[in-house]
Amino acid sequence: KILIVDFGSQVTQLIARRVREEGVYSEIVPYQSAEKAFREMKPKGVILSGGPASVTEAFAPDAPQMIFQEDVPVFGICYGEQTMAKQLGGEVEGGHHREFGRAEVEVIQDSKLFEGVWRVGEKYPVWMSHGDRVTKLPDGFHAVGVSENAPFAVVANEARRYYGVQFHPEVVHTPHGALLIRNFVRNIAGCTGDWSMKAFREEAVERIRAQVGTGRVICGLSGGVDSAVAAVLLHEAIGSQLTCVFVDHGLMRAGEAEEVVSLFRHAYNIPLVHVRAEETFLGALAGVTDPEVKRKTIGKLFIDVFEEEARKVGGADFLAQGTLYPDVIESVSFTGGPSVTIKSHHNVGGLPERMNMRLVEPLRELFKDEVRALGRELGLPEAFVGRHPFPGPGLAIRCPGEITPEKLDILRKADAIYLEEIRRAGLYDDIWQAFAVLLPVRTVGVMGDGRTYEHVCALRAVTSVDGMTADFYPFDMKFLARVATRIINEVKGINRVTYDVTSKPPGTIEWE
Ligand code: XMP
Repeated sequence: KILIVDFGSQVTQLIARRVREEGVYSEIVPYQSAEKAFREMKPKGVILSGGPASVTEAFAPDAPQMIFQEDVPVFGICYGEQTMAKQLGGEVEGGHHREFGRAEVEVIQDSKLFEGVWRVGEKYPVWMSHGDRVTKLPDGFHAVGVSENAPFAVVANEARRYYGVQFHPEVVHTPHGALLIRNFVRNIAGCTGDWSMKAFREEAVERIRAQVGTGRVICGLSGGVDSAVAAVLLHEAIGSQLTCVFVDHGLMRAGEAEEVVSLFRHAYNIPLVHVRAEETFLGALAGVTDPEVKRKTIGKLFIDVFEEEARKVGGADFLAQGTLYPDVIESVSFTGGPSVTIKSHHNVGGLPERMNMRLVEPLRELFKDEVRALGRELGLPEAFVGRHPFPGPGLAIRCPGEITPEKLDILRKADAIYLEEIRRAGLYDDIWQAFAVLLPVRTVGVMGDGRTYEHVCALRAVTSVDGMTADFYPFDMKFLARVATRIINEVKGINRVTYDVTSKPPGTIEWE
């Protein structure tokens, strides 16, 4: 086990993730409760995270001093390195401008931390966090890596198994960072690496039972991977205390609603309330063309419908959500900040306040690909687990202008052909998201001997790591031509197809 002491860095979860990737269990605890956690957990190693504070401030957060009185290896990252240096008698100088950036570390001495990864005399790229820096090392430490701005970029006390780095090994911008963490976790702390998603599943089940007790839980299914995985996990933990509600707003893709319902009712035997609210939603959206009004209308109605269903099943004590770690970071760093609303994301975030329910969020620590791994562990079909993300407002935001049942029908057909061809070409898993958009303009064409005057369909496909930035997918022209031909031949109402070559930024992934 590894204890991660959190000093508030935005990327602390990435440290946990890297440790999990080594098959080792880890727990993140805020520095204030680290001493208690250390005593209870008896970890084989401790990692001190980065953080926004400066160790030169009067009330700078400390790692528990008792950790340094035990025979346990410690790895300090950024702020973690600085506080370790200070707490062991070194000196740290403040006042530097804090910034993140690319830098190079030159290895000047061998270290167990570098074994099999970095060699003496070589330089390696790292993602650095300049800010305070260590200016005098504690006894027993020496520098093993230097960078232009940090003479103590990597420090070590091999005898006591203490290591510190000024850069962030946990981010992907430090190419060998994960291997350095592996060295610490496996070779230095001696963890064996037999932890897995199976263990996560068992622990999560225990945690859910402890939180919920005999309470009733209601879970909104969206048709996406996250809420489905959360629901299956919850069902394993609390069985019939769980009720799932699937609000079908009529803005799903072809076959999607049926798929979700049959997966839950038949494959898993999980009771599911299937609310057919197509008319309500399309009624409220009639005549609406403004994207923000669409989103807000759908969001509000969703809450109304969900609340009503919750009342029908007799209410609940908890609301379950498939919140992932990136959602947690975003909401923490952006709430109350000066950021602009680009789009009002529809989720069920407004619910617990209005309904007086507590939240259960069993996936809070995980990243998207880990949720997929957990889904596989729970036996969800591969085709379901590997699905592209789909936005809460559904096809409404892929149909610029007014939404009508006819337009949705045309869009569904084109989208299904596009995705079928992507799957057939074996490209589905290389793409983050792909979908068709039905444009509110009509253009002239010629088919057979006749004139046509019909809609334009735009195709979108992007690659992305987290949806925050994205590149358009560079399809082969032959592929695009095949899809375009099929759509125009098979979908009545479309006579022209275009491909969207905008990245994000400046575009967004969805069109509205
Ligand atoms: P944008 O269009 O903002 O999308 O670049 C980024 C990612 O978020 C998805 N998206 C949503 N997901 N509710 C959701 O659950 C929403 O309201 C929503 N809007 C966009 C989008 O599909 C992409 O994956």
